[in-house]
Amino acid sequence: MSIDRRDVLKFGALAAAVGLAGAGRAQSPSQGATRDATRKLSILILGGTGLTGPHQVAYALSRGHKVTIFNRGRRQREWPGTVEQLLGDRNVNDYRSLAAEVAKGRRWDICIDNPSSVPHWIRDAAAVLKGHVGGYMMVSSLSAYADNATPGDDENAALASFAGDPLQETMASLRADMSKFSGLKAATEAETLKHFGALATIIRPGLIVGPGDETDRFTYWPMRLAKGGDVLCPGDGRDPVRYIDSRDLGEWMIRLAEAGKTGAFNAFGPDEALDMAGLLYGIRASTTAGARLHWVPTDFLMAQNVSPWGDMPVWMPGQGEMAGFHTRSNAKAVAAQLTFRSLADTVGATRAWFAAQPEERRNAPLRAGIKPEREAEVLAAWKARAVPGPAESGKKAPATPTR
Ligand SMILES: NC(=O)c1ccc[n+]([C@@H]2O[C@H](COP(=O)([O-])OP(=O)(O)OC[C@H]3O[C@@H](n4cnc5c(N)ncnc54)[C@H](OP(=O)(O)O)[C@@H]3O)[C@@H](O)[C@H]2O)c1
Repeated sequence: MSIDRRDVLKFGALAAAVGLAGAGRAQSPSQGATRDATRKLSILILGGTGLTGPHQVAYALSRGHKVTIFNRGRRQREWPGTVEQLLGDRNVNDYRSLAAEVAKGRRWDICIDNPSSVPHWIRDAAAVLKGHVGGYMMVSSLSAYADNATPGDDENAALASFAGDPLQETMASLRADMSKFSGLKAATEAETLKHFGALATIIRPGLIVGPGDETDRFTYWPMRLAKGGDVLCPGDGRDPVRYIDSRDLGEWMIRLAEAGKTGAFNAFGPDEALDMAGLLYGIRASTTAGARLHWVPTDFLMAQNVSPWGDMPVWMPGQGEMAGFHTRSNAKAVAAQLTFRSLADTVGATRAWFAAQPEERRNAPLRAGIKPEREAEVLAAWKARAVPGPAESGKKAPATPTR
């Protein structure tokens, strides 16, 4: 079975879901000393206003920590407490506001770097912050791994390699060619370890979902199932699926900082096995629209050019080169107190967030998922598929597995 590489790559954050050749083993910094979890921390968050950052900020404030955020100030927000904001643009190595604080003798217990996907962002931040932060927690991605073939791989699996000098790459050059994402995330991890060594924590999330996710990758399913009617569903429902609610991720990262945990962590849930049927029937249970789910085999979808991940968001067929995509181990993170909201909670919060978006956004087509007219075409083709008649085969056409 072949998966259209572009369909995976165009969705960016999990861009390297298909085979970039990897080299070497993952570098994991050694475990550092445990900080006193009861101590109030000063936390510097690079980013802070994206998807995960606001949950980190709110949770850190609720636990009495002091928070400084550093970003360009393009997405101003209200906070449930006092937050210091420093401005600068990492694209042009503008860290003057941070450098001015450091020059005054300022120090943070931990720096959380949310958005770095190119190594020069780490190099340039380290030039200002090294020696002035007690730890550096960088958000990488499951895409940093070299391949997705082996179910159950843990944090020691090989990371992707990058052909060329990764320090020459910019956010603009990455956006122009998202096939670099995997290798550049791995190189960004390596840059973090180079500067912060045993003080580094590397977080490798799976698909980040929930309120505030502007990509609509997960949001597609709650919105689609709430609409009702005949719903195209991928495969036989048994393909595994994993994701992480941005609130669970953000809050856990603050707890990791409190505990002083270092090293690399895969970060996704839920903690029990989930498959596509569990996901989609679980979401349908929160609706009243009576959607009818039609499970259409992977091969038929491939022949119809219906792509995993792009047309059928979240879904990756659980065989072949992608067998490990949704089945990596999260045992290390769970042992380090990663906890998970229920699917119902994530779905409810996602829908509530979407309902609160401006009318223009709500009425626009979703940014992920198959278009309604194409979905209807594929379902019609599936229903009309050629099957051997009783005279030829002596068998009845298989029933569409609709539940
Ligand atoms: N989404 C997923 O499914 C997924 C999956 C795996 C891993 N990841 C990783 O998770 C992380 C997501 O972080 P996030 O949720 O906070 O969202 P994000 O969109 O990556 O980060 C946005 C934050 O960074 C700031 N920022 C962006 N460009 C900047 C610049 N040039 N200079 C200074 N600040 C800048 C933004 O504020 P301003 O715009 O105001 O500057 C905002 O605060 C990323 O590293 C991503 O690769 C995502």
